Amino acid sequence: MKKLKAVCSVLVLTLTVISCSGGSDDPVTPPVTPPTGGGGGSTVTNPTYTSNIKAIIDGNCISCHGPGGENSAVPLQTYAQVSAKAAEIKVRIEKPAGDPLVMPKGGKLSQTNIDLINKWIANGMPN
Ligand code: HEC
Repeated sequence: MKKLKAVCSVLVLTLTVISCSGGSDDPVTPPVTPPTGGGGGSTVTNPTYTSNIKAIIDGNCISCHGPGGENSAVPLQTYAQVSAKAAEIKVRIEKPAGDPLVMPKGGKLSQTNIDLINKWIANGMPN
């Protein structure tokens, strides 16, 4: 029992030292933001092209809809290009996975990202 107590106090001491060693000279750790799937969380009420939509398109579409891509004829690299195709984009991202017309081709966006794009379009596509 005495031994256990000793072990315990050593543990407590060690923990105290560890938890106190993070002095003010340590670099400040940035707050951890939860993964959002690229374009922001589903809690975003007013997604904009610049802060939310561009990241989704860059991460999921540009490989084909950019220079040298399979469908570089329909580039999706700028606000003007994406907003001009919004109606077709909405139709394509809502196709079920496995549908020959679904975009991204051969895949499927997360529901969070689909919701964000739809909200963006419904809100008048703010840049
Ligand atoms: C693996 C390559 C690939 C990826 C990734 C991809 N596309 Fe496509 N996309 C294509 C090809 C090829 C076509 C032309 C064939 C067709 O219409 O299905 C196309 C067609 C389209 C069209 C129709 C354009 C038109 O006016 O005819 C839209 C809109 C579109 N893609 C949007 C997207 C969006 C949005 C994403 C990302 C979420 C995406 N695509 C990802 C290959 C891709």
